Amino acid sequence: MPDGTAVSADAIVAGDATATGSETSRGGSLVPSDAGARPLLEARSISIGFGGIQALAGVSIEVAEGEAVGIVGPNGAGKTTFFNCLCGQLRPASGSVLFAGRAIDRMPAHQRARLGIARTFQRVEIFPEMTVRDHLTVAERARAGDWRLWKDLLAMGSPRKEEREHVEQILDLVGLTELGDTPVAALSLGNCRLVELGRALALRPRLLMADEPSSGLDTHETQLLADLLRRVQQESAAAILLVEHDLDMVARVVDRVLVLDFGEPIAEGSLEEVMADPAVRSAYLGKGA
Ligand SMILES: Nc1ncnc2c1ncn2[C@@H]1O[C@H](COP(=O)(O)OP(=O)(O)OP(=O)(O)O)[C@@H](O)[C@H]1O
Ligand SMILES: [Mg+2]
Repeated sequence: MPDGTAVSADAIVAGDATATGSETSRGGSLVPSDAGARPLLEARSISIGFGGIQALAGVSIEVAEGEAVGIVGPNGAGKTTFFNCLCGQLRPASGSVLFAGRAIDRMPAHQRARLGIARTFQRVEIFPEMTVRDHLTVAERARAGDWRLWKDLLAMGSPRKEEREHVEQILDLVGLTELGDTPVAALSLGNCRLVELGRALALRPRLLMADEPSSGLDTHETQLLADLLRRVQQESAAAILLVEHDLDMVARVVDRVLVLDFGEPIAEGSLEEVMADPAVRSAYLGKGA
């Protein structure tokens, strides 16, 4: 399944940041229970097509600070495309995205990351020869976004004490301390996913977005990953947006879910509520899920 990163150039965000003031209307379809507070993330009526395919048709979501929200739906429902629109890998044809009240529609992905939106990818994207610790160190330095990253590439810089400490904290949190010096090429898929997650955490995200993190993992690894995401949410107070097929994992991690089918929002609420919804059952059962 394409993950939306290979579309035509004009669909990819290339513009500079143009932050504007926030609007106060709450048009999103998924309104957190704490409706008085301004959401951390607000996406309003996002639509995008690829050729003849309407990948997203008016999808909205709100995620409050520190909240965990799931996005589920059958294959091809538009989940990854929605993620790409939120993170800045894709520019929607219409709709808007606000982060902490700030319009980020014209902001490229790296600037959104700097604001605190970090993501993992459906396919594990890592450099095989680098060690686990080096992966996290590069992510830590990318967060700072200064010239030292270039020095690193020339092997001239060395990480500061706080940077090293933060990397060790993340290694500990994701349970990879003992594998810190191992090249990622030698890791199991489960551990590669933890490196991916660790890299996202190195950015100290306010919103952590994970696309199918359990893909390819066995039941035990999936449970460990779910527990880890919960711990991340509790310990770092980051909000979580989780795209996931494994509904046990969704149940463990999120507070509520949005269901997409053929690019349209078809249900929202607690996982039990939406799974009891006839439209959701037919969307899943109709595709043998
Ligand atoms: N780059 C692209 N070019 C053309 N069509 C695309 C592209 N990316 C996605 N699509 C199409 O858009 C629709 C939504 O795809 P998307 O990958 O967002 O679904 P998904 O819900 O993430 O699916 P999965 O559960 O299989 O990961 C699909 O019909 C897909 O084929
Ligand atoms: Mg996907």
